[in-house]
Amino acid sequence: MSATETTTDTEQKEMQRERAIHGAEWDRIHGGYFASHAVAEPLTKAIQTAARRALPQVIVDLGGGTGFMLHELARHGLAANARLINLDASAEQLEQVHDPRVKHIQVSLPELRRAQFAKKDERALFIMRSVLHYFGKDRFVPNLKKLRRLMRPGERFIHQTACFEDAAAAKCLNELYQLMGTGKWYPMVTALCMALTEAGWQVEASNSAPPLPLGSQDLARRYNLAPARLVQIQKALAANCGSCSKVFETTRRGFTAYLPYTIFTCVAV
Ligand SMILES: C[S@@+](CC[C@H](N)C(=O)[O-])C[C@H]1O[C@@H](n2cnc3c(N)ncnc32)[C@H](O)[C@@H]1O
Repeated sequence: MSATETTTDTEQKEMQRERAIHGAEWDRIHGGYFASHAVAEPLTKAIQTAARRALPQVIVDLGGGTGFMLHELARHGLAANARLINLDASAEQLEQVHDPRVKHIQVSLPELRRAQFAKKDERALFIMRSVLHYFGKDRFVPNLKKLRRLMRPGERFIHQTACFEDAAAAKCLNELYQLMGTGKWYPMVTALCMALTEAGWQVEASNSAPPLPLGSQDLARRYNLAPARLVQIQKALAANCGSCSKVFETTRRGFTAYLPYTIFTCVAV
């Protein structure tokens, strides 16, 4: 097994730390963003478009959490022609997969093997929402390459990933995550496109998706931040990100940060 095909201690800690908001709580956090039909619609449409062209026999959600996106696809009829498989490292998240059309496998993505989700000669389509940032800056490109190695030429990868057009906004949100003690990292859109190309995909299309509002009270719960630490973080951000009104604002109860998302439709070349 190569170095990119094992889960690092940092990645393990990142997932363990969020256990408080995994499971049933996942649907409610961040204003219900991850369980909203309206929020999911642009990604659902991009996946439907790709599925019409690629005719996959299996659709795999990489880091699919509670299985919400696959459930959405099943509601739109995609389970009729393809098996739906949700992959996630968190047992708490997978326990919430209630749709019988969605199978699930507990696995950490760096360790994933194609044989775990596709039979020989089966055409796969890969989807992912809000997961790439878990790999952190150093493991971002190696893990993209690892995911590409799981795919066959012509297969599609549709992912909704947090990334930035504006360098000051990227600096602000990356600083927030660093101050909260996470290893998560968010790239610029241009850098992400280059990384996808370098890993062996052609980016066919990109569209924006609704931004994720991150209220400070939710962040405190998610990352186990004491009230005094939250105040320190808010002061640091207000000083450094005051001009980034699109991604950071102070509120009556603290602050809200906004993560912008882009949906990428990629073809393995
Ligand atoms: C922000 S949540 C998104 C969940 C889901 N994609 C959605 O949109 O609701 C990130 C998910 O990625 C999973 N995850 C993070 N790192 C992972 C890894 N290395 N392998 C598998 N799953 C991982 C987490 O357990 C979590 O469920």
